[in-house]
Amino acid sequence: MTAPTADIIDGKAFAQGLRDRIRARAQALSERTGTVPGLAAVLVGDDPASAVYVRNKGLQAKEAGFLSVEHRLAASATQEEVLRLVAALNADPAVHGILVQLPLPPQIDPQSVIASIDPDKDVDGFHVVNRGRLVSGGKGFVPCTPLGCLLLLRDRHPDMAGMRAVVLGRSNIVGRPMAELLVQADCTVTVAHSRTRDLAEECRRADILVAAVGRPEFVRGDWIKPGATVIDVGINRVPGPDGKARLVGDVAFAEARAAAGAITPVPGGVGPMTIACLLSNTLLSACRREGLEPEQLDG
Ligand SMILES: NC(=O)c1ccc[n+]([C@@H]2O[C@H](COP(=O)([O-])OP(=O)(O)OC[C@H]3O[C@@H](n4cnc5c(N)ncnc54)[C@H](OP(=O)(O)O)[C@@H]3O)[C@@H](O)[C@H]2O)c1
Repeated sequence: MTAPTADIIDGKAFAQGLRDRIRARAQALSERTGTVPGLAAVLVGDDPASAVYVRNKGLQAKEAGFLSVEHRLAASATQEEVLRLVAALNADPAVHGILVQLPLPPQIDPQSVIASIDPDKDVDGFHVVNRGRLVSGGKGFVPCTPLGCLLLLRDRHPDMAGMRAVVLGRSNIVGRPMAELLVQADCTVTVAHSRTRDLAEECRRADILVAAVGRPEFVRGDWIKPGATVIDVGINRVPGPDGKARLVGDVAFAEARAAAGAITPVPGGVGPMTIACLLSNTLLSACRREGLEPEQLDG
């Protein structure tokens, strides 16, 4: 008998479709109002991984027809210099979204920098005002990675009401906002973390399992409820058999695939959704400045 295998949730294809819709809407916005969505990225220092992320965000923003500007500051930049740059971007009407690439050098306090961004340009959704809007049901920006997970889940389960969801991880950028989004989608939500007593047992109850732990292949196949939908947020670099680094998620993919109903791969699952959602938030910001919602731009 062959092992049952879960459907693969193709985040790469989904993100491409989302970017296509964003490009069409950005074009419609500019034809209707003259406004071109503008995304400004701030990169402090020369961390190579951060430079790659910022470059990819800029390239994808340009492909979507956005104005994309990158601001680089030296690793020795002071907090005042970063705050001055953010203040200038806050005041620039051509900028609708500001992202400050994390991590920042140690002399700069990330919370102060995030707090200095105009909440209506905070397209990463990290500002406390946007966190408050998310929890209280107001109109704000939702952090990009959990938003991407939600879009993949909604595609698979248009109605999630009453489903049991377990979010493994409670970070401010992934686990907690993810749990809030699932509560809003009428799931019954459990948030598990390093102090949870029996993680495997909690996970086995999940119709939807979102893993955001940061530990390679941590979730085993026998933690998965048969038929569950598994969203693997983890991005972990481990040495491959040939000695080269390879990417794995927080879920032991082959084992989990034998039990789950659907699962995101790593790479090619949640990862591509994150930048697509950053573009989506930037378009949303530009639309709201014009008193529109993005859906109103569909032809
Ligand atoms: N796809 C993307 O675009 C994207 C974006 C962001 C992050 N990620 C990836 O997602 C993963 C999580 O990121 P993050 O920023 O949320 O990480 P994080 O801030 O390190 O949070 C990890 C969470 O996992 C929990 N945890 C750690 N070890 C555990 C254990 N042994 N048992 C149970 N829970 C444990 C921690 O619990 P405590 O709170 O109790 O310490 C914490 O809540 C990472 O692999 C990261 O690279 C991917």
